[in-house]
Amino acid sequence: MAETATSTVGTDTYNYKVVRQFAIMAIIWGIVGMTVGVYIAAELAWPWLNFDIPYLTFSRLRPLHTNAVIFAFGGSALFATSYYVVQRTCHVRLISDKLAAFTFWGWQLVIVLAAITLPQGFTSTKEYAELEWPIDLLMAVVWIAYAIVFFGTIAKRRVSHIYVANWFYGAFIITIAILHIFNSLAIPVSMWKSYSAYAGVQDAMVQWWYGHNAVGFFLTAGFLGMMYYFVPKQAQRPVYSYRLSIVHFWALIFTYIWAGPHHLHYTALPDWTQSLGMVMSLILLAPSWGGMINGIMTLSGAWEKLRSDPILRFMIVAISFYGMSTFEGPMMAIKTVNALSHYTDWTIGHVHSGALGWVAMITMGSLYYLIPRLFGRELYSIKLVEVHFWTATIGVVLYITAMWVSGIMQGLMWRAVNPDGTLTYSFVESVQAMHPYYVTRWLGGVLFLAGMLIMAYNILKTVTSPQVAEINDTIPAPALAH
Ligand code: HEM
Ligand code: HEM
Repeated sequence: MAETATSTVGTDTYNYKVVRQFAIMAIIWGIVGMTVGVYIAAELAWPWLNFDIPYLTFSRLRPLHTNAVIFAFGGSALFATSYYVVQRTCHVRLISDKLAAFTFWGWQLVIVLAAITLPQGFTSTKEYAELEWPIDLLMAVVWIAYAIVFFGTIAKRRVSHIYVANWFYGAFIITIAILHIFNSLAIPVSMWKSYSAYAGVQDAMVQWWYGHNAVGFFLTAGFLGMMYYFVPKQAQRPVYSYRLSIVHFWALIFTYIWAGPHHLHYTALPDWTQSLGMVMSLILLAPSWGGMINGIMTLSGAWEKLRSDPILRFMIVAISFYGMSTFEGPMMAIKTVNALSHYTDWTIGHVHSGALGWVAMITMGSLYYLIPRLFGRELYSIKLVEVHFWTATIGVVLYITAMWVSGIMQGLMWRAVNPDGTLTYSFVESVQAMHPYYVTRWLGGVLFLAGMLIMAYNILKTVTSPQVAEINDTIPAPALAH
């Protein structure tokens, strides 16, 4: 499906204001969230860095990091790109500028409230759903407004076809609404304290139904939407197989929703539920790789572009990390493998090969494509994009290899027993053994963060440049699909 509209900067065909706001905030929140990540990574290597100040303890800053990178950085990037893509592919302006502005300010308020309450220790204790009930309510309202803007825009589209990127964004919006509302059901006992509506093993089950699908829909489906629009655009090639994109869409969303119990292996959860979660996770490899192959093969016939285009390189490396983490995930879901990996840094390595390698890098590639077009300015420096690419890539590789080694070492040390049945290593010995890997991970984080700062500088110079450029959004015949 080819787009027909020409560049619209300076005209009022589309609402670019809200896209610009979210795109800039994605970079700012990325820096904030990753700075906290680097700080907590340093605390794990040098624990005295909490200075005995409660607000700076690892336990309080960790949820601040996860909320900032997932919801503030990832969320802002998803709002920005989905609003852009839905307008461009439906050939209409967002259904309501006011409601779109409400989603921007409402989402920023959620983030600020999270940043105030989490370091003070207000938490529901549910991972990735730590925010207390008043913030949860605000989040739900903003999300419903988001759904109205997105689906309302789809409803008034001027082309009959709904491009596949919108399917992914749509599934992400609907599923996150359902997950958030049901997992957050709670009984408030005061302004900043509530108790979950569920108890015991049901609570755990609902939490990881939420938690895994936060991965599947927030950190995966939404970013696949990004991939399906920006990779063909930057490569100037149609999607490799449109049919595959639809097949893997339905297979992915059907399968993801069952896989949550792999977070609860060897717990009080009924054994058959754990096995079902494991099997569904193994099946998930197929649709995940369907998406990965479709993204990478979009470049077939244009591989030489990777040599000269660092933006495309960001995207292709991101898709490769997506392939790698969705191979690793199903392996870790096998119960016997999980017996070794669970509670260890292997999980943390897996998380960040997905989070840094896939989520952050596809976002960076997409923002480098998007921002010059949103502001009508040529990108200040391609050379700096190149430097950013290498800094980020080396950073991720350092991070995840350190975590693989330390994770597997932890697992092996904890289960080692002497012939008389006593433990070979004390826990403290395993903590000591981790130190060099924690320092290496911190270094990887510093590099990754440095890349973000380079990006911020490049974007600042781009958007403040006095030189207005007419950047054609349609580039000769970049039909998105055959
Ligand atoms: C400079 C980059 C980053 C650094 C240095 C960093 C560092 C860390 C550290 C030290 C932890 C705690 C690990 C532990 O408990 O042992 C963590 C957890 C986590 N981070 Fe990051 N992080 C970075 C970027 C990101 C990004 C961009 C995302 C998501 C898009 C992310 C998502 C997460 C998640 C989901 C967890 C919790 C993992 C779990 O509970 O298994 N991080 N991070
Ligand atoms: C086919 C796809 C995937 C499967 C089957 C899968 C499976 C798993 C498994 C088995 C664990 C360890 C659970 C435990 O021992 O506690 C895990 C943890 C995790 N994975 Fe994946 N994974 C997949 C893809 C991804 C991707 C692409 C990302 C990120 C973008 C991601 C993010 C996470 C996070 C954040 C956790 C840590 C959850 C926590 O304990 O806090 N996963 N995954």
